[in-house]
Amino acid sequence: MQLFNSNFTEVEGGLFSSVEKADVGNSYQQLGKQGVDLLGWADPFYPDRCIPSNVLSASINALSSNKPTHYTPPVGNENLKKEIAKKAEKINHLKLDPERNILITPGSDSGLFFAMMPFLEKGDEVILPVPCYPNNIQNTKLLGAKPVYLKLKEKEKYQINAKALEGLVTSKTKMIVLTHPNNPTTTVFNKDSLEAIRKVVLKYNLVLVCDQAFEDFTFENEFITPASLSGMFNNTVTVCSISKGMGLSGYRVAYIMTNDHFMDKYYGAAVSVIGATNTVSQIAAVEAFKNPSFMNTFETAYDYRRNKAFELLNSVPGVSMIKPESGFLGWINVSKLGTAAEVQSYLIKEARVFLNAGNNYGPGGEGHLRIVLGTYKDNVRMYEILKRIKEALLKYTS
Ligand SMILES: Cc1ncc(COP(=O)(O)O)c(C=O)c1O
Repeated sequence: MQLFNSNFTEVEGGLFSSVEKADVGNSYQQLGKQGVDLLGWADPFYPDRCIPSNVLSASINALSSNKPTHYTPPVGNENLKKEIAKKAEKINHLKLDPERNILITPGSDSGLFFAMMPFLEKGDEVILPVPCYPNNIQNTKLLGAKPVYLKLKEKEKYQINAKALEGLVTSKTKMIVLTHPNNPTTTVFNKDSLEAIRKVVLKYNLVLVCDQAFEDFTFENEFITPASLSGMFNNTVTVCSISKGMGLSGYRVAYIMTNDHFMDKYYGAAVSVIGATNTVSQIAAVEAFKNPSFMNTFETAYDYRRNKAFELLNSVPGVSMIKPESGFLGWINVSKLGTAAEVQSYLIKEARVFLNAGNNYGPGGEGHLRIVLGTYKDNVRMYEILKRIKEALLKYTS
């Protein structure tokens, strides 16, 4: 008898086969032990110490109180939700009632799965602009739905093509999952892209799940929150996190923001699906939201690194890189040199650096590598690594 539900047929955790992904199995960590610089986890300043002093003090105070051994309510710490509502009003232009429109989740990975869960069933179609965060593809399949890919094009700066988007809608389309800014391409979706999504969502009454884990650092381009666009709040679930912008990935704190009707389902299911998010982490997160000035130095470092990567990698014949528009990632086109896997394994051997193979990010990702420019605290170290990558790629092409 087949015990597993058919949605899990393709799922492999690396126990019985080798899975070439940074976040599955332990081959990634093994490479680190062999002295390879690991630039494959979107984890700010990994593995260096980067805890802001105010967040550290808040964590220690929380640990010393009587609170750590007790649950926080499944929907989240009320003070944290109040702070998030303030940020949402200022940055996202959303006016939220913390008691009705915000739910705290243990990270946005589980938050995203939970966000999609009440809506999807077998046969539903989910439009995914690709390349995209791989979880969007896996989550869609785990929930029995079918991914339908909207291929973002480099020559269109990875923005949404309105005609192509509407062309994918069928009677089975239920949802669009947008990672905004995008991982891996770093694209900050512009007004036209978001207007195209708005039109389709409202015309066909779809749900937009918008992952804004990277919303905090969006260099030249204006960041617009889709849920704030006219009519969209009732059809949008916004998922944010303190992992990327605040560099607090180990705290496992993220949040869902949405309208009362959707939130009623989330609040009702929260106790059985997420239980509750870590009590100490939520208290420390309150301090991070109240005093986020530590993020300024992060932004300066990321800006420096993206400019250096852009300059160094674009100077290699046959290699091109769009200037990162957000956060601390980079998306490198190496298709003139070989497949993503070929160039990836060459760089592990020659430059002693691990980058992510682009084919894991869905259609359109082949021939590309993703680099996490936010690795390590030291800018000089990152610059040295970038130079090593450049030298190795120059050798590859000569
Ligand atoms: C686009 C995107 N969304 C969500 C996440 C999940 O982050 P967390 O679960 O730490 O909030 C990640 C992590 O890499 C990500 O890249």
